[in-house]
Amino acid sequence: MKKLEEKILKDGKILPGGVLKVGNFLNQQIDTPFMKEMGEEIAEMFKDTGATKILTIEASGIPIAVSAGFAMNLPVVYAKKNKTSNISGDCYSTMVHSFTHGNNNNVIVGKEYISSDDKVLIVDDFLAHGSALVGLIEICEQAGAEVLGCVAAIEKGFQMGGDKLREKGYRVESLAIIEEMTDTEIYFREQ
Ligand code: G4P
Repeated sequence: MKKLEEKILKDGKILPGGVLKVGNFLNQQIDTPFMKEMGEEIAEMFKDTGATKILTIEASGIPIAVSAGFAMNLPVVYAKKNKTSNISGDCYSTMVHSFTHGNNNNVIVGKEYISSDDKVLIVDDFLAHGSALVGLIEICEQAGAEVLGCVAAIEKGFQMGGDKLREKGYRVESLAIIEEMTDTEIYFREQ
């Protein structure tokens, strides 16, 4: 999505450790008209797939998932992060390691929200090493739901999470893929 690439170049800030700050339109502050456009772009990519539900993870995945949900007229479920493991049995759960934050989160979704009848589109804001998406795929597997594909707004291609999932056969789309990021420059993958 050309407009997203332009926005990243204009408003993104490169932080140490290969981190891109996009707090003024995607994360902390949401550019709502642009978020609407990204949701419509995702809807166009996955139209006619028979999706029944969108799944994301708190916190920053929620706005873009909801935007896609409006555009596709679908419910959005978000996984919650818990420090402790869930033992009550009423949730699907899996452990997700965050390379960026260097911590582990037990990720949980109530069993009533995803079932084996669901065809799920997984949506997140960033795709880096792919741990969050792998965790959400595992949740779908536990539910017996079909994973139609995964979408990220921004994929950091150099951290390989997206390509590893594509190699496994998953449909993974990203609105912008950063192929390389130096201290001062950002280069996008041609799509
Ligand atoms: P992964 O899920 O793809 O493996 O990513 P990783 O563990 O490395 O990233 C963990 C968190 O950091 C995720 O948010 C992810 O969205 C975010 N993240 C990764 N790289 C960047 C980046 O370059 N810029 C920004 N702004 N965020 C990045 P999270 O832990 O789920 O936190 P949040 O959604 O509550 O913010």
